[in-house]
Amino acid sequence: MTANILLTENIHAEARAHLTGAGLGEVELLGGALSDDELSARIAELMLLGVRSRTAITPEALANAKQLLAIGCFSIGTNHVALEAAERLGIPVFNSPFANSRSVAELAIAATIFLMRRIPEKHASAMRGDWAKTAKGAYEVRGKKLGIVGYGNIGSQLSVIASGLGMHVYYYDIEAKLRHGNARAVDGLDELLEMSDIVTLHVPSTDGTRFMMNAERLAKMKPGAVLINYARGDLVDIDALAAVLESGHLAGAAVDVFPTEPAGASERFESPLQRFDNVILSPHVGGSTQEAQQAIGQEVAEKLSAYVKEGVTTRAVNFPEVALAPLGPGRQRIAHVHRNEPGVLSKLNDAFSASGLNIVGQSLATSATIGYVVTDVEGKAPDDLVERARGVPGTIRVRVLGG
Ligand code: NAI
Repeated sequence: MTANILLTENIHAEARAHLTGAGLGEVELLGGALSDDELSARIAELMLLGVRSRTAITPEALANAKQLLAIGCFSIGTNHVALEAAERLGIPVFNSPFANSRSVAELAIAATIFLMRRIPEKHASAMRGDWAKTAKGAYEVRGKKLGIVGYGNIGSQLSVIASGLGMHVYYYDIEAKLRHGNARAVDGLDELLEMSDIVTLHVPSTDGTRFMMNAERLAKMKPGAVLINYARGDLVDIDALAAVLESGHLAGAAVDVFPTEPAGASERFESPLQRFDNVILSPHVGGSTQEAQQAIGQEVAEKLSAYVKEGVTTRAVNFPEVALAPLGPGRQRIAHVHRNEPGVLSKLNDAFSASGLNIVGQSLATSATIGYVVTDVEGKAPDDLVERARGVPGTIRVRVLGG
């Protein structure tokens, strides 16, 4: 039997186990990413497609996706998927926005402690055979001011752990946030930079955050403070950071994300920060743990099976969100995706009543482009219902679930 579910890029086995356990079909696992041509050749036969971040899903490939019900991005980001094209075709995309938040927060704490104890330079000198046994410049983190930029999933998780270590947590966010424990919000980024012993970035890459840590902002940081960027590579002007490390204004930095990153293990990694002993560099692994991979595999697979079996689109990235209770016994559910134009719902309901169906529940959600209406009916829908529903002008897709 040909697999109707394809999971690329070494997605965690948890996903396959869940999809198979849910009885959705045959799952094929691929170790690598698919090229555009390979994807176009495979996509026509697929019911579900799972990718991580290296398989681009283009509008051209989607044009062949006649049976594809949904796409799972087993990642945080979804930039590599043509979200609007998928939406227009009635294909929801699901991802896992915070399954690796804890992993990033833990690593940021580790970097905080190591930087405050000047471990990177002591490690480097020990590796060279030197014995730099001194307490000079080494501090506990207890009682120090941690400045968190962006108090979202990761920032707030970090706040809780840091408070547990006795740190004084301050944060700056452009939105009002529920503060955890004794953490305190500050009104402006500059204020946070001026007061913090450690500044750690946890914001997305947007027009408002790109190069937010430029030369001017780095100069505002406390002399001897340290900077952590485990968020996005374009938040910090790397040359300006190299300059403040060179001058000694900052005592150290930990950086996991870079303006340009190698595409794979065969490409060399180069950065102006490589010459500093007081810098911890890592290859974009902030969220890369076994626990995070497993949690992502489970979360996205659950979302895919909830959509296939129940029509649920809660927390879809590109699709109107409909939250639904499980389908009751003796009922069927008709999931209808249509262009968002006037009159579709009433014509669809006319088709239901022409088929003699008793509607027991109906939920509608719309985006600017499409509408998604899910109708629960008593008994079994007649065989010609799908044809009738397809005949409603504006219809993109129809599925009958259950029964
Ligand atoms: P999130 O969306 O939950 O939180 C981001 C926060 O930043 C929000 O509260 C938002 O209001 C705030 N924000 C946006 N613009 C801002 C600005 N100009 N100034 C201050 N605050 C602003 O995101 P999450 O999940 O906490 O992720 C944070 C960052 O970490 C993202 O850039 C994400 O891509 C990155 N990340 C990196 C990983 C790695 O492997 N190094 C793994 C996971 C996430």
